[in-house]
Amino acid sequence: RRYRKTIIAGNWKMNMTASDTKKFADDIKAIMPRAKWCDVVVCVPFVNIPAALKAFKDLRISVGAQNMFYEKSGAYTGEVSADMLKDLGVKYVIIGHSERRQYFGETDFTVNKKVLAALEAGLHPIICVGESLEQRELGITMELIALQVKSALAGVPAEKLRKCVIAYEPIWAIGTGKTATAEQAAEVCTSIRTTVRHLYGARIARSITIQYGGSMKPGNAAELLAQPDIDGGLIGGASLKPADFVEIINAAN
Ligand code: G3P
Repeated sequence: RRYRKTIIAGNWKMNMTASDTKKFADDIKAIMPRAKWCDVVVCVPFVNIPAALKAFKDLRISVGAQNMFYEKSGAYTGEVSADMLKDLGVKYVIIGHSERRQYFGETDFTVNKKVLAALEAGLHPIICVGESLEQRELGITMELIALQVKSALAGVPAEKLRKCVIAYEPIWAIGTGKTATAEQAAEVCTSIRTTVRHLYGARIARSITIQYGGSMKPGNAAELLAQPDIDGGLIGGASLKPADFVEIINAAN
């Protein structure tokens, strides 16, 4: 564990206005632990990034985006580039969340292009992988996750890999209240590290942060985070409530 960072990241999804963001920061200020042994990130909607950067600065909470486009600039109406995020002071960007794959046509191919573009701009991509319930029941989870990880990392040089975070989010556990058991989550996170080891060697595999996401909450965070290959969480619903989010941070501490 000392080889790598523990990262607790909130994914607000399409929730919270800029005013809500300020209120969240005010509320969390009073209850945030003084010493943190983990890095804390909140990934907010694009339009709230400036508000979040301002509100979270003194709390040492990093700000992340939830998506970006892979081209550097140009005629891509409605899109946001990695350089634009970097220039604002954004540190992390979620890439390939299952909701983007499901509703916005993202594929392993576009995820890879986005990962490369994020790294090129100096952002830390949080790369999401995960299987559906059907895929789990078919018994193809491990192969599928290995494929997603390999495709996402295609062309990423070893020296840039330590900037990447991988988040394992079983689709059936997202927003459903159904958490993967600690054993199920750990099994996949361990296999992700094995895939990275095959690609990049043991030293790099040991240093990469692998998160679990999917109905993580105060009641199950400690057990999930105690697993040797789970180095943090990507938290949806519970990250919207300051008290719950802080409890998860404390569980990682
Ligand atoms: O990215 C986090 C996420 O998909 C998990 O959402 O609401 O199940 O914690 P939730």
